[in-house]
Amino acid sequence: MRVSDLAERYGTPLYVYDAAVIRQRCADLAAWDTVRFAQKACSNLAVLDLVRREGVLVDAVSHGEIARAIAAGYPTTAAPQTNPDALPPADPIVYTADIFDRESLEAVVRHGIHVNCGSADMLDQLAERVPGAHVTLRINPGFGHGHSQKTNTGGEGSKHGIWHEDVPDVLRRAEWAGLSVSGLHMHIGSGTDLEHLATVADALEKTAREIGRSLTTISAGGGLPVPYRADEPRPDLSGYFTLWDTTRKRLEDAFGHRIRLEIEPGRYLTAESGALITEVRAIKRQGSKKYLLVDAGFHTLARPVLYGSYHPMSLAPAAQPPSGHEAVAIGGPLCESGDIFTQEEGGFVSTRDLPPARVGDLLIIEIAGAYGFVMASNYNSKPFPAEVLIDAGQSRLVRARQTAEDLLRGESVTGLPES
Ligand code: LLP
Repeated sequence: MRVSDLAERYGTPLYVYDAAVIRQRCADLAAWDTVRFAQKACSNLAVLDLVRREGVLVDAVSHGEIARAIAAGYPTTAAPQTNPDALPPADPIVYTADIFDRESLEAVVRHGIHVNCGSADMLDQLAERVPGAHVTLRINPGFGHGHSQKTNTGGEGSKHGIWHEDVPDVLRRAEWAGLSVSGLHMHIGSGTDLEHLATVADALEKTAREIGRSLTTISAGGGLPVPYRADEPRPDLSGYFTLWDTTRKRLEDAFGHRIRLEIEPGRYLTAESGALITEVRAIKRQGSKKYLLVDAGFHTLARPVLYGSYHPMSLAPAAQPPSGHEAVAIGGPLCESGDIFTQEEGGFVSTRDLPPARVGDLLIIEIAGAYGFVMASNYNSKPFPAEVLIDAGQSRLVRARQTAEDLLRGESVTGLPES
């Protein structure tokens, strides 16, 4: 499918996802008992529906994400266990958070959603509403790692999870509250690497032994890396699975029953499926630097401005381009200097080598299918872009572009008389 056809049909800026890539990424993880999609990475209903059909379950971090999972066809509760020798059934939707905001607690209670508790206060709040519930504990093992300090979710510098040294106290608190701890979860960060992720298995095993026989599910969390740069390797998924499978088997031997092994990827399932199509709207020189200004900005894709993240970019020229390459900085339309896609962490403007562009050419920002649309904002009163899913050679609009009316919905003026 030609990028220019998509731009013409749906307009720009436009997020486009390739269903075949998402299916492949789901299949890559087939060895795990449960693949649970961290939908915060890309929560469009069509994407949730797609991964559901691939047998992938889902994580929700808010009542909004619970509503999305239900709208995409997920059942809310697990099927009862009929065969005691089989793996324990998996909860289709798990609410994972460090707090219950009031709406999320209501949604969890109303739908009977399984909860992964990142703070001890959540245990008491849940027990009051759902006496005798089974819960998962999210433990902060005291270390973490991510592509940025902002995505490191372990150690003292992170607000996430129950501190590993507090496990005995928290188990007592759960028991008093009448809750049963059936799951254990650790997620040390996003955009990390397998070396760091591998260290989690030992930490989890140690905590699992403190919890004991009530455990039926362990989760390795998310964090699987994807190669954003051409020279980055793909992760060795089979080695990673074997490590966790061995941990799981040791716990099964210790507890004398089967244990379900989960993984909770976000980025891995959707990042490479997605591209952001933008149009070059102005080209200018500021001293020695040349800038291409496109119609997407950090309100459309926030990763470069937030973390200095690198995304591959390519040009789809409207006409035969002049030969050669040139170094250009690429920015968006926002009234803020930081609205630059080519930047390092700390906000330093860098450049990208591209063929000489003309106004009207399309610029494609690649590997944008995770933490792309979902982190978009209405800053500068810019509408959210449209989203399109391509499947079997057909493109389908799965989220309409916001209109000016959408932007103003719910607001009102005071109605005071004019002076
Ligand atoms: N599980 C939990 C509890 C998480 O907090 C996250 C991500 C995941 C799983 C999925 O992690 P992944 O497999 O995608 O690495 N906005 C940042 C990423 C923030 C991730 C937040 N939590 C970015 O654009 O890189």
